[in-house]
Amino acid sequence: DRAEAYACWLQYKKIEDVKWLDNYASYCLNIGVVGTSEIIHSALDELSLAFHSMFGKKPTVTPHVDSETSIIIGTYQDMIEEEFALETDVFQSLNDEGYILRTVNHLEKNCVLLVGKTDKGVLYATHHLLRLIQARESLHQLDIVEYPKNQIRMLNHWDNMDGSVERGYSGNSIFYENNKFTTNLERIKDYARLLSAVGVNSISINNVNVWEKETYLITRKLLQDVTSIADIFRAYGIRLFLSINFASPMELGDLSTADPLDNNVKSWWKDKVKEIYQYIPDFGGFIVKADSEHRPGPFSYGRDHADGANMLGEALEPFGGVVVWRCFVYNCMQDWRDRSTDRARAAYDHFKPLDGKFKDNVILQVKNGPMDFQVREPVSPMLGAMEKTNQIIEFQIAQEYLGQQKDLAFLIPMWKEVLDFDTYAKGEGSTVKKIVDGSLYEYTYSGIAAVSNIGDDINWTGNTLAQANLFGYGRLTWNPNLSSEEIAKEWVQVTFGNDPIVVETISTMLLDSREIYENYTTPLGIGWMVNPNHHYGPNVDGYEYSRWGTYHFADRDGIGVDRTIETGTGYAGQYFSPNKEMYNSLADCPDELLLFFHHVPYTHRLKSGETVIQHYYNTHFKGVEQVEDLRKKWSLLEGKIDEYRFHNVKERLHMQLENAIEWRDQVNTYFYRKSGIPDEKNRRIF
Ligand code: GCU
Repeated sequence: DRAEAYACWLQYKKIEDVKWLDNYASYCLNIGVVGTSEIIHSALDELSLAFHSMFGKKPTVTPHVDSETSIIIGTYQDMIEEEFALETDVFQSLNDEGYILRTVNHLEKNCVLLVGKTDKGVLYATHHLLRLIQARESLHQLDIVEYPKNQIRMLNHWDNMDGSVERGYSGNSIFYENNKFTTNLERIKDYARLLSAVGVNSISINNVNVWEKETYLITRKLLQDVTSIADIFRAYGIRLFLSINFASPMELGDLSTADPLDNNVKSWWKDKVKEIYQYIPDFGGFIVKADSEHRPGPFSYGRDHADGANMLGEALEPFGGVVVWRCFVYNCMQDWRDRSTDRARAAYDHFKPLDGKFKDNVILQVKNGPMDFQVREPVSPMLGAMEKTNQIIEFQIAQEYLGQQKDLAFLIPMWKEVLDFDTYAKGEGSTVKKIVDGSLYEYTYSGIAAVSNIGDDINWTGNTLAQANLFGYGRLTWNPNLSSEEIAKEWVQVTFGNDPIVVETISTMLLDSREIYENYTTPLGIGWMVNPNHHYGPNVDGYEYSRWGTYHFADRDGIGVDRTIETGTGYAGQYFSPNKEMYNSLADCPDELLLFFHHVPYTHRLKSGETVIQHYYNTHFKGVEQVEDLRKKWSLLEGKIDEYRFHNVKERLHMQLENAIEWRDQVNTYFYRKSGIPDEKNRRIF
């Protein structure tokens, strides 16, 4: 039972059905490999493990192809050298991680051909084949050409060396315990397997808030351990990055400054980078949170972000490394009385003037929304605004503001909305996905990063259903054109098998879940209203009189933040036309973001015809009913899935219901008391 929870989407259950056994076994028991590499080795290990478990028999692996071979594996280059006939033009059109997966007749035998543009492609093709078998697809007529649409597909870990995980909801770190690296390297390898199966190719392994202990990760004392982790990930096509402390030259060296324009500081970093690459020749580079929430940065020396990032970029350049510079920069010491400062504006105000000033190996990492991973935010106006600066978007898989993996929230539909959003940066069709895949502005580096949601819980993600978010993140990042429905279905099949009732029930639960969460928390785009610090559960005024810049401005008459150009903070003006005009106009602003852009009376009528206050009452009552319905749906699966996972989710849904009730009652009561306007349907408000 626990093994199934642990295996996530790498479940290789024994295949009992004779029809499928025949289909698969004719292909899967004889693997011929052309060429070799560490990554191909990983691919073969995975195939052997999977086939052994699914067919009860270990496949034979030979370092050549003969008349017995039924799966042929290799890179394009190695196959050509062995004089296989492969279409050059197909491979020319693929990027390095692409592959073909095809049924061919070779030496008068039907074989599955698995050819990667490079060995990474071989590994991805392997996982594709395994997914097809898990979903019971026939192998008789495969003709698949695949490649990732995004170049950098990264996970950021917010793990600390004491073993805690900032915003972690699934136990402790799998990398560290008690200020040391873990000795459980098997688990890290299993994580690498899971990530490679969904196409993740980059990982940073420590918190963006780099505290004292983690500052030492780039020193001799710890680099050997970092190297061991990098070695594990490398075998699965994943490059390792570290978050660094901008003040390292002072904290680790004996310099009295970290000024990026100081020559001693520059050479300190150059030496440091050189040392790192002696340990890890393919080291990815640095993630930097600077001048953000009290982390040190170039501002202390009167320098700007470009000065800071470029100094590190120069050090990394000779080795092919990059600087990922985060744009989560705002004033976290705001006076709540100050109505002229708007946190939403901050990233654009800081970075837009610097477009064109960054080196080519610097990448700006921008959170999907202008605030901080709320249940609904507009797309950050930074996306598309920086024509001459490499950008990657940052999502958060960890559900900090979306129920913390107690409540169910499938995030793929939300990320898809973001990726499909048309910024109009270069006219119609300038979608976010075209910005982050690098095509709109022809960025040198581009892609997607996200804060991981895993920890050392047996099922990795606390709530087993939260595995779908990590899986879906990888799949969507590989191909943003996959639909939420496809991803949900695929995840259920590889995780729970193919019983149509299970697939249908869980897919529906996932697909409805974000809207349900929004209903009982903060609809209409206002966000927050959470308990300070830990961010779980309702507290309408929890952040209202604080320094964090996260206000709803509810009074007896109305609610919302005026971010219009004429009377508000002007934030709406950061968008390209016609988004600018749409958000700026009370009449045209979409309901779901109304309170993000406008302060309106409770009696303001939405496009649905409901008033704002009545909408709040309705959604909050409805949200709780929907959670009750989720519980009913889940209970029907008892006996259809293993007990361990069944109980895990059942327990979580119970917690979710309690949370939803608390949200409903606090929010409804608060606004009823503020406004004095009763619920039209006379339901119970306290
Ligand atoms: C959020 C989160 C912090 C985190 C920060 C960041 O504010 O609550 O824990 O450090 O984002 O992204 O840097």
